[in-house]
Amino acid sequence: MCSVFGYIGKNNCRSYVMEGLQKLEYRGYDSAGFACLDSDDKRLYFSKAKGRLKNLATLLKEKPMDGHIGIGHTRWSVYGKPSQKNAHPHFDCEKRISIVHNGIIENYHSLKEQLTQAGHIFHSETDTETIAHLFESLLVSHKTLKAAVVDLVNQLEGAYAFLCINQDYPDCMIMVRKRSPLCIGIGDDEIFVASDPLAFINQTKKVLFLPDESFAIVKKDLIELYEFSGKPLTPDVQELSIEWQDNQKNEHQHYMLKEIYEQKNVIHATVDFLHAMTDQIWDHLSLTLEQVRKLDKIHLVGCGTSWHAARIAQFYFETICMIPTRVHLASEFRYMPFFPDEDSLYVYISQSGETADTLEALRLVNSMNLPTITVTNVPSSTMVREAGGFLLTQAGQEIAVASTKAFSTQLSALYWLAHRIALEKRIIDSVQMEQAEQDLLVAAEVLENTIENYKRDICQTHAPFYTQFDRVIFLGRHLSYPLAMEAALKLKEISYIFSQCYPAGELKHGPLALVDEKTPVFIFSHSEPLIYQKIVSNAHETKARGGHVVAFAFEGQHELIDLADLSFVVPKVKTLLGPLAMIGIIQFFTYQIAKNLDCPIDKPRNLAKSVTVE
Ligand code: AGP
Repeated sequence: MCSVFGYIGKNNCRSYVMEGLQKLEYRGYDSAGFACLDSDDKRLYFSKAKGRLKNLATLLKEKPMDGHIGIGHTRWSVYGKPSQKNAHPHFDCEKRISIVHNGIIENYHSLKEQLTQAGHIFHSETDTETIAHLFESLLVSHKTLKAAVVDLVNQLEGAYAFLCINQDYPDCMIMVRKRSPLCIGIGDDEIFVASDPLAFINQTKKVLFLPDESFAIVKKDLIELYEFSGKPLTPDVQELSIEWQDNQKNEHQHYMLKEIYEQKNVIHATVDFLHAMTDQIWDHLSLTLEQVRKLDKIHLVGCGTSWHAARIAQFYFETICMIPTRVHLASEFRYMPFFPDEDSLYVYISQSGETADTLEALRLVNSMNLPTITVTNVPSSTMVREAGGFLLTQAGQEIAVASTKAFSTQLSALYWLAHRIALEKRIIDSVQMEQAEQDLLVAAEVLENTIENYKRDICQTHAPFYTQFDRVIFLGRHLSYPLAMEAALKLKEISYIFSQCYPAGELKHGPLALVDEKTPVFIFSHSEPLIYQKIVSNAHETKARGGHVVAFAFEGQHELIDLADLSFVVPKVKTLLGPLAMIGIIQFFTYQIAKNLDCPIDKPRNLAKSVTVE
């Protein structure tokens, strides 16, 4: 949700910190800050700005500061509204200690009360500032820096990753990790630290992922790693093979549009990648043949768009490999009754591989030694490290907050996996497996071609027309209901138009009361005739009450197409791949509406690309 970046070494820190924050800004962008210890007088200097990182860069141009040790932060607000005052870094009373933090200190309120009663003066509404004041008080009562840190981390509850520099210890940086991601990059006489290794991977590929509940006291050429008890830990340094993809928008105005257009190619790449793994897939997922053959329950877990992918994939696993499949919202999963099932597989779906809700649900099942895998887009993510096995979608880095190509490659990977399990269970043969791969490529083709078919009309006529509405109802049935949910999420998160999705069968049980000429109804069809007929009835119910219908239909569905005020017609594909074929035009249409409203599409208000707090 926020991003932290630190540097200590032979060079000046500011340019590294600002470049690292720029790479992580997608994680949170409502304010930013920088602090460093001046190379000469060793004093602490800092600058903070509300809004995007470029506002901080402007301040640093006007008032330059630098040194060989520095930290930076981009924020997505939890406690305390976005403001210069609440921007990180935060300080102790003497402004000798500086902290940047990602996560939540759950007991900050009681700690803040105690510290205030002890005379500490607070200047922000954040939980983070509590860390600085508590550390200040502990440094007085402990003889060594390490002892103070041990006491500090054992008083803080919640999920957090924070960096600390202290004017009284000008040659070292403290970094602490509990559940939120944090990793160290080891250079030559210099150390980088960030929420995500992609932020410094151009400087070094030698990476130490801080273990959960650990802290490090770091100098430019020394890393002392400890458990929260103070027991020393041996650093496990890895050589990563990831690269920072210097993603440019190229000719596109927004990353979202670029990523919509990348979908056909990345679906192809995903199918090719998985095809190449056909024979060693179970090793890759850390599943034995016996486990796969005995599999009799699948659990799919995710949030947001990834949860929508899970809802669609439920049909894949139940129809193709005939395995009862449950779908769980990750944020609810931990608080529901849990029935461990030996012959189950738990699948965690996450574009970022860092979503806190999904991670905590993964950790719960890992603690029961049940088989877990993750379907994710980020090879260096925490979920890849913590799940039993992982399936990498080949979407490539997704920058826009609104997920598009990650969603379509998740569907592709899950559709493929359902067939691969069916092949192992001898429900299908290798010819059908190959056909499934071909069907995915056909759906990818249809996805792209449908956008081309309607691009001009949407841009010139339809998108401007639909900007007039401030609320839209979305309807779908069976497989097209989660597709309708995903469509509603796309429109609401980039255009801020209130978008509510209902199962189409529910329309007459209440939501129909909302239908009037000011509330368009977007209806998502289905290629099964019986279900299609019911959807046509819903369209009639809507029209009979003066409603305005936008239909996303399949070729040949003339009754629905003729009934609608506007229809987008998609060539028929395999029934289960209907959502994949249709999602492109949905993404493109909602994008164009938001663009006509002049919204900040790649970084919508209040949101972040990776939600690393629960
Ligand atoms: C999707 O457009 C949103 N950005 C959001 O719902 C996202 O899907 C959700 O936060 C889950 O993220 P993840 O896939 O990285 O876990």
